[in-house]
Formats: sequence, structure tokens, C-alpha cells
Amino acid sequence: MLVLKTISDARAWRDTVRQEQKSTGFVPTMGALHPGHISLIRKANIENDVVVASIFVNPIQFNNREDLDNYPRTLDADIRRLEEVACDVLFAPAAAEMYPDQNIVNDKYNFGHLDKILEGKYRPGHFNGVAVVVRKLFEIIQPDRAYFGLKDYQQLKIVEALVKYHKMPVEIIACPTLRERDGLAMSSRNVRLTHHERSIAPVIHRVLLEIKDKMDHLTPKGAQIWGVNQLNKYAEIQVEYLQIVGADDLLPIETWTDKKSVAVLVAAYLGKVRLIDNVIIK
Ligand code: PAJ
Repeated sequence: MLVLKTISDARAWRDTVRQEQKSTGFVPTMGALHPGHISLIRKANIENDVVVASIFVNPIQFNNREDLDNYPRTLDADIRRLEEVACDVLFAPAAAEMYPDQNIVNDKYNFGHLDKILEGKYRPGHFNGVAVVVRKLFEIIQPDRAYFGLKDYQQLKIVEALVKYHKMPVEIIACPTLRERDGLAMSSRNVRLTHHERSIAPVIHRVLLEIKDKMDHLTPKGAQIWGVNQLNKYAEIQVEYLQIVGADDLLPIETWTDKKSVAVLVAAYLGKVRLIDNVIIK
């Protein structure tokens, strides 16, 4: 696997691939790779001639210094994992390479309601930081297809909006959430859970699935309150939001028939670790 650290090396590499007329699949990540990330690489490998992954812990999408400092960094192990699945190229720039001039970033995106609700409400500036880095990475790598996990559902919607707005010539491919056997969505942050917290964590996904069963006899509002109450039974869990929304616009629904497709999105602290998850229930 070719490991590129600078933007100019990545651009030079891109030029040669373009001359060879090979299709390029791109999987942007922040590293600490787990099987969820790897499933994106595998899919990209099937659908493209060349696969590029990036590892960059993007400082401007962290609205909490502690979260940034504690974010796991495991580059050597990540490189081994990527080589095992025949990833062709890794782009792993330093922060100063992506943001020279002391992290001065002037781009401000307006995603309408999409970056102000749910994650956007609790992590102000987060999606602007994601949009800035994803756009920069797309400009450097110029992929034909880019792979994003449904695990970060709102992020996927933001990236789709970004690509649509700028008419970027890249196809966004949504990939299913990989879970542990007990249902916990795989996440780089899971390693920070204590043994006890890890034993409680699967309840988050379980409650999302049980909300689906409540559709027959509860309103969306009733199901939402039921779900929050279930999670609040655990002293270790602090729910930030649990919302039942239209799967396309992420706006709350009044009745189950309001929208063609319905998603339940949740963010909760388990101890010090913030976890998010979602399921499409209709
Ligand atoms: P990161 O959290 O490392 O995730 C990289 C990609 O892996 C994202 O598209 C995410 O949705 C996907 N992913 C994470 N957990 C997954 C799981 N359990 N199953 C399937 N896919 C999963 O998301 C980011 O990094 C960053 O915000 C990034 C897009 C790289 C911009 O900095």
C-alpha cells in the first residue's frame, strides 16, 4: 500500500491514476479502524479499480477539546488492517498539511435546518468542520465514488447536500452499519467504555428496535418518550436526544404516515463516552 502524507504527493499520484483511466473509490476516516470501516473498504474494492482510504483526525470537527485529545490514534495497526484488505493507497496528512496558518478556516456552509438539529444542536460547528474536510479531501483525491456509513446518518445527509450543492462529480455510496454481536454499533469510541459501560451499551440499539414494535399502538411522540424513559432507567446513560424523524429531511414526524421512510436517531453519553446510533424503522 502506498502511504501518502502530503497533498502534493496525493495530487501527483492522482494524475497518474487519471492517465490510466482507473475508477477510484474513496473511504475517508479518522482512523482507529474497526470492521465497520473495513466493510467500506471492501465495498469500495469491489466497485472500483483503485481504493484510497484517508486517515485524518480532523481537529475542526471536534467541538470538545477532550474528545479530540482522547480520540484513539492507532496508525501502525490501521496500516496493517488496510493492507490485509488490499487497500491501494492511504492518504494520512498531518494537521498542518490540511490546515496551514494555525487552523484558520474561513469556509462557512449553510445546510439550512440540516446542520442545526440533532447532532448539529449538540455539537455546534461539527458539520461545518466535516464539510470543510470532506470537500478538501474530495478535491485532492477526486474519487469517482465515496463510501460513507449509515452509522453517521446525519453526516451522510450533510455530505449528500454538499455534493449536490457544489455539483461535485462523485457518487456517494451509503453503507450499512456494522454491529457487535450484541447489537452495539461499532465505533472507534467503544474502546473508551469501561467493562461495565460496555455491558450496558447494547441497550441503545435494543431500544431503537423496540420502538419499531411500538408503531402499532403508540404515536411517534409516545414512542419517543417511551424510548427515552427506557434509556433513562440506567444511571450510567445520559440521553442527549432520541428523535423519530423523516429519513430524508430529518424533521420530526407527527404521525407514522407523515413520511415515506422514518428513522430513529439517538445520541447518549455512557459515562464519558458519547455514542450515536440510528435505525430506519419504515
Ligand atoms: P470515522 O468516524 O472514522 O468514520 C469513517 C466512516 O466509517 C464514516 O463514513 C462512518 O459512517 C463509517 N463508519 C463508522 N462506524 C461504522 C460502522 N459501525 N459501520 C459502518 N460504517 C461505519 O466519520 C468520520 O470518520 C469523519 O467525520 C470523516 C467523514 C472522515 C470526516 O472527518
